[in-house]
Amino acid sequence: AIMDGKTLSLGAVGALRGFKNPISIARKVLEETPHTFLVGQGAEEFAFSKGFQRSILITDKSRKIWESKIKKESHDTIGVIAMDENGNMACGTSTSGIFMKYKGRVGDTPLVGSGLYVDNEIGGAVATGLGEDIMKGCLSFHAVFLMRQGYSPQNAAEEVIRNIYKKLSKYKKHDDISILCMNTNGDVGAATSREKFEYVASSKNMPPSIFEVTKFKT
Ligand code: GLY
Repeated sequence: AIMDGKTLSLGAVGALRGFKNPISIARKVLEETPHTFLVGQGAEEFAFSKGFQRSILITDKSRKIWESKIKKESHDTIGVIAMDENGNMACGTSTSGIFMKYKGRVGDTPLVGSGLYVDNEIGGAVATGLGEDIMKGCLSFHAVFLMRQGYSPQNAAEEVIRNIYKKLSKYKKHDDISILCMNTNGDVGAATSREKFEYVASSKNMPPSIFEVTKFKT
């Protein structure tokens, strides 16, 4: 999914197979259709109509990893929050989803409010982790909402994770969730329910640098 913080326009695709950069297809949905979210066969037909081609994404190495992890759940999600020199913000997310998912399963990643949210007047957030849990709290929207109330990105990230953890741990063992936030000043914050979570930040004055947060405190 890709979201424009100026207009709140969104483009998303889900449940499509074998396209190398689905976020580029999502951008076409945003720019060239009256819709925001295409899935499955419709998304694939739309991609072909825009000149995208299917490719084989599984390498020998990833097949071996898949075979060794076939019984464990995992996921591989990327989230980006960006701001240009005019203060226009955008967010993007992409994922292969979780291992061993049901056919047709779509996680949080392309869902506005869960996997991503951005508003030029407040800031943006992107989430990673178990989509089924992230959706339960619309975590990216929650983080942006908290920043609107005056929370710093770091405090918003921590509050979002603390809140969903508190809620869900009454009913189930918690799964990994991490969230990254940035406000209109370019301040960045992150929080995680994992032992640690790494992210990269950069600006005009700072080359891409790796930061790490450790598990949130309840
Ligand atoms: N956050 C990735 C997924 O659950 O699909």
